[in-house]
Amino acid sequence: MCKRFYITTAIDYVNGQPHLGHAYEKVITDVIARAQRALGRETFFLTGLDEHGQKVQQAAQAEGRDPQAYCDELAAVWQSFAVKLGLAHNDFIRTTQARHKTVVQAMLTKLRDQGELYKAPYRGWYSWKEETFLTDKDRQPDGTFDPVWGSVTELVEDNWFFRMSRHQRWLIEYLEAHPAFVQPDYRRNEVLGFLRHETLADLCISRPAARLSWGIPIPFAPEWVNYVWFDALTNYYSVPAAAGDPVALEPLRGYLDLPATDCRLWPADIHVIGKDILKFHAVYWPIMLHAVGAPLPQQVLVHGWWQKDDEKMSKSIGNVVEPGAVIDAWGLDAFRYYVVRELDIGSDGNWTDAGFAARYDAELANGLGNLVHRSLSMLKRYRGGIVPPRSDALAGEVHAAAETITALLSQGRLQAGLKTIWNLISRANQYVDHTAPFKLAKDPSQASRLDAVLYTLAETCRVLGVLLLPYLPDTAHKLFGQLGLAHPPDRIAAAAWGGLSPGQALGDITPLFPRREVRADR
Ligand code: MSP
Repeated sequence: MCKRFYITTAIDYVNGQPHLGHAYEKVITDVIARAQRALGRETFFLTGLDEHGQKVQQAAQAEGRDPQAYCDELAAVWQSFAVKLGLAHNDFIRTTQARHKTVVQAMLTKLRDQGELYKAPYRGWYSWKEETFLTDKDRQPDGTFDPVWGSVTELVEDNWFFRMSRHQRWLIEYLEAHPAFVQPDYRRNEVLGFLRHETLADLCISRPAARLSWGIPIPFAPEWVNYVWFDALTNYYSVPAAAGDPVALEPLRGYLDLPATDCRLWPADIHVIGKDILKFHAVYWPIMLHAVGAPLPQQVLVHGWWQKDDEKMSKSIGNVVEPGAVIDAWGLDAFRYYVVRELDIGSDGNWTDAGFAARYDAELANGLGNLVHRSLSMLKRYRGGIVPPRSDALAGEVHAAAETITALLSQGRLQAGLKTIWNLISRANQYVDHTAPFKLAKDPSQASRLDAVLYTLAETCRVLGVLLLPYLPDTAHKLFGQLGLAHPPDRIAAAAWGGLSPGQALGDITPLFPRREVRADR
């Protein structure tokens, strides 16, 4: 099997609440994955959950539950969230799965054998109430810790460290030589700036099992468990390694006893992540892989953060955007459209309910919805729903737009792709206004002209369905159903003009994005 395009999202904390930020990341990754498939590349899309750590252990304990049972219950909620978002992922990793644990342990053992790990006293400010180490970032302006942390004392305990600092120079040179490794460029510059001006500390990668049992045991020192980022980052590698990908298995030979298969995933093509976890992915992760002797991923693609009404979303303010509620009220594709259209990948976003409703009305109901509904309704009314002979009136323009969109999709420029699709929609709506088929229909001498206009519009709708498939899969399916076709073709090449056959009978026509009553909140 040839190497598949392998794309991942961050794995969400299992004890968090699924919100707009998580949904955004998963949707943009899904659009890129679907676009790659439509471009004809075999694609593997991985998402999942980060399940170990102090907070999960404490929350489970507080409820008197076994942490695994607690995670299983929450994982079911996250998995149904993925379904709700319409994700076409190929696998869902949970860091509590055996396939993952064995890979983490193999990595740790190899690094230990290579002298990359050492044991040393770890010193830090420890909150006994929250059972966690605090950092200087947790201090108040006057230098003290907030009383919510309870008693905070300096604690010294032995832990395991990973010699990251020795790879700092190598990483700087790698980032300089591989400009595409971190994107957008300003994020790459941020990482390089940090690496050039600060000395990397070695990374503490363990906690004593006596204090924190909810983690992967360090195989050669089971009095400790692996502490969390090392565990979490490795998820991207565990899936290919556990599936027998020879490229992923090779560096772990002698440490992971698994047969090679024809699975070809590693190295990952894109890790999609939010800006808050850039350092982990652009510093820790490449160093871990380099130290273990594994090829590096092609790219870390860093998206921005969403706020709501110009404020950070938080449970206490009560302004968390819940994608599930938006989807129930407006439909899945309205949500997917808004988040992809609103932001270029990298920029921060600001959700407002009014902004969402405005895009729905102008771009989905009046733009795409209106074009499809009036084009197909006229074809029903004037030609009994039977596609007339082919015409090439808009063929050139549609072809040019499809070429541009295909190129933008292949570069992952999702927002620009949507803008180009909507330019085509506006152009087609203009064409209806200029050609005025409702007038042509009244004049029998214009019958062949009317045929040409109706074919052109129906075929433009079909091409739009092909181009929209990665972004709005449900809408693309509905549109194809209305054209009387079974389902949208899975290749973007099908956007070539002339795919609609004369004589084809349309299906039932209903508005794709019904107009909404004016709501009281606007
Ligand atoms: N578990 C770690 C990631 C480990 S990856 C090896 C984590 N989890 S998280 O649940 O806090 O965040 C998951 C992803 O959601 C991150 O990429 C994060 O940036 C993203 N977002 C969380 N809140 C967000 C917004 N408000 N806006 C956009 N994305 C945000 O970090």
